[in-house]
Amino acid sequence: MQDALSFVHRYEPSARADAPTLLLLHGTGGNEDDLLPLGRMVAPGAPLLSPRGKVLENGMPRFFRRLAEGVFDEADVRARAHDLADFVAAARERYGIAAPIALGYSNGANIAAAVMLLRPEALAGGVLLRAMAPLAKAETTEGLAGKRVLIVSGARDPIAPPANAARLKTMLERAGAQVEHQILPGGHELSQADVTLARQWLQANEAALAAVS
Ligand code: MLT
Repeated sequence: MQDALSFVHRYEPSARADAPTLLLLHGTGGNEDDLLPLGRMVAPGAPLLSPRGKVLENGMPRFFRRLAEGVFDEADVRARAHDLADFVAAARERYGIAAPIALGYSNGANIAAAVMLLRPEALAGGVLLRAMAPLAKAETTEGLAGKRVLIVSGARDPIAPPANAARLKTMLERAGAQVEHQILPGGHELSQADVTLARQWLQANEAALAAVS
């Protein structure tokens, strides 16, 4: 669906009036349809907001530019994070939803992390699957106080190594977030264990996430 909101996106409303919205953020080469099944699995009945990244790398949609694998164009990361946060604010008004919880994979997890660090008011929390630190240094703020984040890494992930995700955890904690970092045995690809972890974490933190949304 393309409309006045600045990202091509899908919005699936909920049958449950009280359910927090998930903001689905796909990986490189994905699109707005990719994570809908994952969103339905981890938060059955939740409203889903799913934008498509605006950057094209050899025809593959992403949420920000990179100079090489794992080397990000930080000026672009910052500009795109603000653009996505503005889209979230516009979508909240359009659809009448509270601040969403990000569910991002790979490049989508990285832009979610950048939004949390740069525009902490935009998201109520996040599930970041195979995430990396998107910025070399983040501004010191307390803007994420009371917000919760789950980071899930793959132990043998060559693209988003657990040590890099640990750096992201520290950055988010410095900004006030409560962060849980789980490391699964696999690599960069997702597995059923990710679905189970994400679902359990969302259920266990439902009240705390709702309180800041
Ligand atoms: C990124 O560019 O955000 C990360 O390297 C993950 C990826 O998209 O491959």
